[in-house]
Order: sequence, then C-alpha cells, then structure tokens
Amino acid sequence: MPDFDQGKAYVPQEEVFFDDGREVELLHFVYGKADIDQIRGNPSKVLQAIDDFGRTKKYLMNVGEDKGKIVCNLIAEVKPQTMVVLPSAESASAWLIMSLERNPEFGAVISSLVDLAGLGDVVKVEIGSSDASIKRLHDAGQLKHIDLMFLDHYKPAYKTDLKLAEELKLVTPGSVLAADNVIKPGNPPYLEYVRASVEQKRKWLEQPNGDGTNPDERVGHKHINQYARRGESTALNASPGNPNLVYDSKLNHSFEPTGDPDAIEITRCTGEESG
Ligand SMILES: C[S@@+](CC[C@H](N)C(=O)[O-])C[C@H]1O[C@@H](n2cnc3c(N)ncnc32)[C@H](O)[C@@H]1O
Repeated sequence: MPDFDQGKAYVPQEEVFFDDGREVELLHFVYGKADIDQIRGNPSKVLQAIDDFGRTKKYLMNVGEDKGKIVCNLIAEVKPQTMVVLPSAESASAWLIMSLERNPEFGAVISSLVDLAGLGDVVKVEIGSSDASIKRLHDAGQLKHIDLMFLDHYKPAYKTDLKLAEELKLVTPGSVLAADNVIKPGNPPYLEYVRASVEQKRKWLEQPNGDGTNPDERVGHKHINQYARRGESTALNASPGNPNLVYDSKLNHSFEPTGDPDAIEITRCTGEESG
C-alpha cells in the first residue's frame, strides 16, 4: 500500500491512455445492443452497458462501479443543485451537472450517452480545458456555486483547478469535493493541499513560487508525458486560491474497475477563517 500521507515516499503508478478510438467503439457497442429500446431513457442501463464494454471488450478509464457507488452516495447526501464533473457524467436527477471535458471527441461521446440516458436537460457538457471552462462559465454567470465537485482529470490540475474555484468563490463553506485516483496513479500535492491547515496554506503563498504552477514532481512524469504526447496542454493556472478555507478531508478506499486498489478523497469545506 503506498504511503500517500507521506507524499515524498510515494512512487506514482502509470495511468494508461489508449488512442485507438475505443470511445467511439463504445458508442457502437451501446447503440448496437439488442435491448437498446430498454436502455433508452434509463441511466442505470446506460451505465451497465458502459461497464459491460469495459469488462468484456476493452478497458475504459471510467471511474467504475465500486468508486461510482461512493460518488452516488455522496450525491444522495449532498443533494447538490450544481455539480461540476471533471470531466464526465455519471448519473443525475433534478439538478444541473456540468461536465467539463477537454477532448472534443470524448465530449461528443459523453453528450451522446447523456442524451441516450434521457439526461440532456440536466447535464451540460462543456468542451475545453477545465480551468478555462470554470472561468468562462463563472464569468458568464452560468456557474455561481459548486455544491459538489468530482475530480477525475489531469492529475496536476486537481489542486490548481480547486484553487481557481476557491478564488472565484465557487467553492465555499458547504462545498464538497470528491477526488478520484488518489492512490492509483496517486496525487500527493492535492492530498497535501486539502489536508493542510489554513496557517500552512498562508505560508505556502508567501514563499516565492512556493506554491507555483509547475507540475509537482510527486505527480508521475509518465502521467504528465502521456498528456504532452497526445498534444494536450500540460499548463496549469496560477490561482492563489483561498487559503482561509477550512477542509475536513478523508480517504475512502475502493477499487478500480480492474480490481486494483484505489481511493477517493472526500473533502468537505467546513468553514472560513478571517484573513
Ligand atoms: C480518467 S478519464 C475520466 C473518466 C470519467 N470520470 C468516467 O468515470 O468515465 C480523464 C479525462 O479527463 C480529460 N481531461 C484531462 N485533462 C483535462 C482538463 N484539463 N480539462 C478537461 N478535461 C480534461 C481527458 O480528456 C479524459 O477524458
């Protein structure tokens, strides 16, 4: 078991990307199912079909059933009016999910599956880099507060996107964050940030580039290089965040769809200290 509380001792594992068009293949698989008429308008059946593909055809980098349950329980508890998903959608009811996806092909696949599930009215798929989308949606008045945020994208961006959302006052006391893959491949800088005291976060901000935007070396280079190889930007935004927010953060152990151990870090913003 990696020592994720001691970020320095932790050797990150590789996250695998496939550039073989399997996401489009997934669409053909789902729409080609014999019971497609029962799947239409039924989010659980759409999820089942996606999981079927991942189990029987080709590996998908989706959150999977086990960790998906943790997120679903959190949704039932928080009952968010607005949920931001970095990047793709899981399930929904009478509220708004903003799904922020950078890859336009993946975004089109997500939109198609969301429509198939009958959730087109509650899930907004926004194509673009997560930080640019957060800022754009905020500036346009379409994103006013984040009740629940699910992070499952470029690992170094977990911390910087959270800080941007803090700075824009989208994350405030009452907001809840769920961060996937904090063991596999791991994300020590994010865990360190959400577990830090207000005092510590203020100190980091005072250091020259102490809490800067270069990808932290504790996030695997393989992960960063995979994005770079695919021609996707690895740049990060430089928001100072809001160091005064107080978090209560805990690890929830679970499993990847492959059966490998992983965990979701659930972080609740419980207050704000005066600056
Ligand atoms: C692990 S997958 C997400 C799986 C998804 N949560 C699920 O359960 O099906 C990572 C995704 O993040 C997207 N991504 C990576 N960095 C991003 C960024 N900065 N902004 C938006 N999307 C990003 C990738 O294109 C990829 O689709």
